[in-house]
Amino acid sequence: MFVLGLESTCDETGVSIVRDGKTILANQVASQMQVHERYGGVVPELASRHHLDVFVPLLHEALKEASISLHDIDLIAVARGPGLIGALLVGLNFAKGLSFGLGKPLIGVNHVEAHLYAVMMNASVELPALGVVISGGHTALLLVKDIGNYQLIGQTHDDAIGEAFDKVATLLQLPYPGGPHIEKLAESGDPHRFPFKPGTVKGHPFSFSFSGLKTRVLYLVKGQNAGKTDALIISEEDKKDVAASFQYVAFSDLIQKSQLAAQEFGCKSLILGGGVSNNQYLRNLFAQKCELPLYWPAKGLCLDNAAMIAGLGYHTYLRQQQSDPLDLEALSRMPL
Ligand code: KG4
Ligand code: ZN
Repeated sequence: MFVLGLESTCDETGVSIVRDGKTILANQVASQMQVHERYGGVVPELASRHHLDVFVPLLHEALKEASISLHDIDLIAVARGPGLIGALLVGLNFAKGLSFGLGKPLIGVNHVEAHLYAVMMNASVELPALGVVISGGHTALLLVKDIGNYQLIGQTHDDAIGEAFDKVATLLQLPYPGGPHIEKLAESGDPHRFPFKPGTVKGHPFSFSFSGLKTRVLYLVKGQNAGKTDALIISEEDKKDVAASFQYVAFSDLIQKSQLAAQEFGCKSLILGGGVSNNQYLRNLFAQKCELPLYWPAKGLCLDNAAMIAGLGYHTYLRQQQSDPLDLEALSRMPL
């Protein structure tokens, strides 16, 4: 079964073609990084307009890459949420148009669930697993009993971990999106120089809070009670130690809560997904501290992409045994 996957939840447009949920025949991604960089974050209206511009050319590229024609497609899978509503509407309506025009079934999938499925595209994991979704929009621990069968264990109560990386990067005057720049800068920094404290949520041992950590970084680099736009009071050398210390504390918190949750819920493995799982320091730290088997997404499947949408769409369609209706709605918030 050839599945066409469409992704437009935030600032990446993705068009992929995946056979039987596993074999990636095409994986086209157009990043909008340059569009949003000068604003230091994603501008939703610009994101929607950019998706609109690039979907059709990307589709042609994907068909060329997979060496198939549009009529060979058996199913159209699209991310229907969670995400920016305008951006989602562009992808969803593109999917509906293709479905109606070609007479092929449509299936809407959850983007967060797809981040976890990304790992299962090239590995058979031991279940139940602890799913760790770490991206610019999400930070969640989930008990994964099977594909499509999850239980939410904990999530962030304020900023997502990737969002905290991006905001700290902005404070350190690094380009957007800041996660990879923090990782790079931290390579030559001392992770133990500034003993920041991770955020805790009273009564929720598996939940996260990154906004306090971010504020502590702000006060350190710009002075007590400083505003975001105030000048830096630290040296270029200090910046490296701030990046390394922030990264170390955020990841240690994530690893400690993941391990605790895995133990509590009897998980046999850990599966990770989302843009932050691209971080090599995180992979090394997890490997040092965690005894359970760890599964990371393959290259090209950490950040937002449509291959994970097509892959998951295949399983969702087989389970559901019917197409989603053409009045399927986009959901800016979408529980699993
Ligand atoms: O999964 P993703 O592409 O989009 C969302 O669904 O949110 O994740 C993007 C996030 C951004 O916050 C980016 O800074 C972060 O992933 N990220 C990283 C790294 N690469 C991307 N964070 C830390 N280290 C990295 N190497
Ligand atoms: Zn994502």
